[in-house]
Amino acid sequence: MAQQCIVLVFGATGDLAKKKLIPALANLHAKGHLHKGTRILAVSRRPLTDAQYHKELLPIKDKKVWASFLKRVSYHQLDFSNRSDYLALKGRLAKMQAAGIDTSRRVFHLATLPESFPTIIEQLSKECIAYRAPKEGWHRVVFEKPFGHDLSSAHGLNTEITRLFDENQVYRIDHYLGKELVQNLLVLRFTNPLFDRSWNSQYVSHVTIRLYEQVSVEGRGEYYDKAGALRDMVQNHMLQLLALTAMEMPATTDAHDIHYEKVKVLKTVEVDPKQIVLGQYTAGKINRKSVTDYRKEEGVRKGSTTETYAAVKLHVNNRRWHGVPFYLSTGKALKEGYAEITITFKEAACLLFCGADSKLAPNKLTIRIQPHEGVKLQFNIKELLSDFSATPHEMDYHYDAEFRMNTPEAYERLLSDVIKGDRTLFTSWGEVEYSWRITDALRKARVPVQQYPAGSTGPDEAKRFLPD
Ligand SMILES: NC(=O)c1ccc[n+]([C@@H]2O[C@H](COP(=O)([O-])OP(=O)(O)OC[C@H]3O[C@@H](n4cnc5c(N)ncnc54)[C@H](OP(=O)(O)O)[C@@H]3O)[C@@H](O)[C@H]2O)c1
Repeated sequence: MAQQCIVLVFGATGDLAKKKLIPALANLHAKGHLHKGTRILAVSRRPLTDAQYHKELLPIKDKKVWASFLKRVSYHQLDFSNRSDYLALKGRLAKMQAAGIDTSRRVFHLATLPESFPTIIEQLSKECIAYRAPKEGWHRVVFEKPFGHDLSSAHGLNTEITRLFDENQVYRIDHYLGKELVQNLLVLRFTNPLFDRSWNSQYVSHVTIRLYEQVSVEGRGEYYDKAGALRDMVQNHMLQLLALTAMEMPATTDAHDIHYEKVKVLKTVEVDPKQIVLGQYTAGKINRKSVTDYRKEEGVRKGSTTETYAAVKLHVNNRRWHGVPFYLSTGKALKEGYAEITITFKEAACLLFCGADSKLAPNKLTIRIQPHEGVKLQFNIKELLSDFSATPHEMDYHYDAEFRMNTPEAYERLLSDVIKGDRTLFTSWGEVEYSWRITDALRKARVPVQQYPAGSTGPDEAKRFLPD
């Protein structure tokens, strides 16, 4: 059973809180996964009563369950930079405690712009609302992505955080790391000697990690224009996928051991400034719907050169992966939206069965992350009724239940892990630090940005650059 706690959602009137966090908590409540004494304190600057805040939320279907969930949710008005508001928050927690609600276990979920992180944690700490090693219970602080906008700012933020909290109190979200994916990759590889023994440069030709979106910047132009694909996707989600794919077997499945192995990979990643393709979408159509030119999106600077597409070739320079390229590609407003990792094995020596009628192809193992999470294997088989002609086919397995990222379902898992104190799905400082080193090096290359029409597969140059 989950532990009782108080979840304080900062930025509770924001998009993330209303669309993902509160619905995730409501789903946990509906499934009986929240302790009956758990309370949710929605913290934001607008003057709202509890009832007014409740009206702003998206109710779940079952009215009775929704009504019982709302009994857990109260609203607290607070301006992040106003000290007296924190004193009032402290008083409110003390009142809850006096009323018999245990407030010693506290989750502080900062669903706010990253610029507000330092102010909030400083004030929480100063007023002894959240601090290192509380005498009773625990205090945990959850930080939304992005964690900094380059190595130096991430470092500054981390110094601020570790001045006030221990690393084991810190939960840096990368919502892409749904547990299913982490577990799938590890289980698939380490329980199947067939894959595990060939997971190295002797057998693998190259690895591709694709994370494609059909959505454009859709109203997030101001944020996105300052970030771009390298910061928004490569620094976090894509390098996490690379680290999970390339890492050694961890000693245990504990967060610490998994983080340790991922950091080892990220430390050895080499960037070649000549092996980068960047793109930016122009007007086009996706599923017959018109998409506005990126530069005309609201919040995007005039003449912006921010990349909405990035393809990079990296090397993991260790014994296992020496000489094996890792191709990472990601983009917005593309023809198709999906995320997958493909391990392409070296081709069989052409000794037999490779006559003119044969269409021999390399073995490929694809781990599909979304949509339809599953695994696909390409292999050669004799063409029916032919004379030893080989042809490639696929075995395809996908889970019935779709586990999508950055959804209330993903947040259900993340929030219950915070309550459990399981940091496996959250990124350690070491991972963040080395990912920023790689991303800063890619950005420093200052590669010109090619244009591609929305609804296409990306810039032409990327088609030549990426393997099939
Ligand atoms: N939205 C998503 O799907 C998504 C996905 C992944 C990551 N994230 C990350 O999550 C964080 C939040 O994103 P968001 O889209 O929810 O942002 P948002 O819609 O702008 O929400 C920000 C929240 O902070 C509150 N706020 C701002 N300044 C404040 C102040 N001085 N005092 C008190 N409250 C203040 C806002 O209150 P008002 O309502 O009064 O303005 C609002 O509740 C960001 O770091 C973002 O990068 C978001």
